[in-house]
Amino acid sequence: MERLSFMYEDRIRCAALRGKITSAAEAALLIQDGMRVGASGFTRAGDAKVVPVALAERARQEGEPLRITLMTGASLGHDVDRMLTEAHVLARRLPFQVDKTLRDAINRGEVMFVDQHLSETVEMLRANQLGKLDVAIIEAAAITETGGIVPTTSVGNSASFAILADKVIVEINLAQPLALEGLHDIWIPGRRPHREPLPIVRAQDRVGTPAIEIAPEKVAAIVITNMPDSSSTVLPADEETRLIAGHLIEFFQHEVSRGRMPGHLPPLQAGIGTIANAVLAGFVDAPFDAFEIYSEVLQDSTFDLMDAGKVTFASGASITLSAARQAQVFGELERYRDRLVLRPQEVSNHPEVIRRLGLIALNTALELDIYGNVNSTHVGGTHMMNGIGGSGDFARNASCAIFATKSIAKAGRISSIVPMVPHCDHNEHDVDVVVTEQGLADLRGLAPRERATLIIENCAHPLYRDLLRDYYRDALKWGGQTPHQLDQAFAWHMRLRDTGSMLPAMKAGR
Ligand code: COA
Repeated sequence: MERLSFMYEDRIRCAALRGKITSAAEAALLIQDGMRVGASGFTRAGDAKVVPVALAERARQEGEPLRITLMTGASLGHDVDRMLTEAHVLARRLPFQVDKTLRDAINRGEVMFVDQHLSETVEMLRANQLGKLDVAIIEAAAITETGGIVPTTSVGNSASFAILADKVIVEINLAQPLALEGLHDIWIPGRRPHREPLPIVRAQDRVGTPAIEIAPEKVAAIVITNMPDSSSTVLPADEETRLIAGHLIEFFQHEVSRGRMPGHLPPLQAGIGTIANAVLAGFVDAPFDAFEIYSEVLQDSTFDLMDAGKVTFASGASITLSAARQAQVFGELERYRDRLVLRPQEVSNHPEVIRRLGLIALNTALELDIYGNVNSTHVGGTHMMNGIGGSGDFARNASCAIFATKSIAKAGRISSIVPMVPHCDHNEHDVDVVVTEQGLADLRGLAPRERATLIIENCAHPLYRDLLRDYYRDALKWGGQTPHQLDQAFAWHMRLRDTGSMLPAMKAGR
């Protein structure tokens, strides 16, 4: 242990804590059946990497029930959710996931998944609405002289988990550069009802501390790891995402020319996934003055835009990059340091700041309906995909809430524009603009009947456009503010379930 203490002086600067170094298996023993555990990790970045795996291993070996509630910032990397699911450790999981094995277990009803707005999890914990947090597992680049925990590539919910949990396990990850120290801005809201305003008035404002300040006695164990983050899985831009980016650039130019947006655009938020990343990357050649990003996940596109001189500053809750970008960005962090800040997700996604800064929010829909209601989460209206993530935090409070999707999925067997969404994450009141590779519909100030025509004509794929026109024409016979043929509203989804395609037999060539 003495040798270890000496080795990690620069990583564990609080000498009193060096004696807490132990193995992942020993640390995992702090977690018992029925506990609530909060783990770091946000879109595969800065996640606790070894203690959850040791817990899964113990559950497999002991054969005794070891079931926990696991809360994170957002998704985890390194197949941790898969391993925990396969070992039957997850009784309850929140607030987000992207793992196929876990997704299947959720959809079989084996894991209770609570799909939450990402800004709300720790707010609810703090208000004791989710029960007491027993253990927090936090990945760190270092522990300061006073016991402050320096997060790595995400802040997510780590700060509040560490503050609210009874015990804290720290995973010091040697693969994460010490240069990350100073990138974070930890600000935690006070207790309601006497809370002060959140003092961020510009994307680059720093209002908190560089580390998570907790009493050092709360640190129950320290585990040393050496594993880079899992790299992001987004695909490169394709013809459709380039077209979507083109429609958006034209729309923003129009907004600027009308004086509704400044020439440098309001700060931008872009959601997770291939589409949002590719669309944002398409802004590299856009004719706008350099703008700011105030978002949640900073993907490759953020750094493409910085390198192109298009982004002056980026604020996020995590940095999630492809393998090549990871090596480049973390290898030369000094190049970006002055233009980056990582915040707790309740701050990056805070309604007050989003409304104050007047963000443009760009998120992805699985499907949307002819009136502009958006389904981001439930395939076929029933089966969980990933979760709502931060899209609701941003869409409801942005000055311009945009949802993008390709107009068809699965080689045309699915239309992303449907008569009525079978699950609604973002309702017509929160959705300002929808865009597909076919075109863009600006829904602001329009009544549902006006929205329907615009969405069908501008955004639907030609394969489905006539079918949507027919549906809407027949729906008008029933009248109403939002006309529908209720007996037909979900017919497309039922056809998909029964035949594997939304197209009627004749059109599908069956
Ligand atoms: N029905 C069924 N499946 C659909 C579909 C639909 N209407 N539309 C798309 N899909 C499938 C795609 O075919 C693809 O499947 P594959 O993985 O088997 O190839 C998958 O969904 C992902 O779609 P893709 O077009 O690649 O988009 P994406 O990677 O950008 O992800 C979401 C889209 C909606 C799943 C993703 O953005 C998400 O989880 N959003 C919710 C959370 C969120 O918005 N967070 C933002 C704040 S950070």
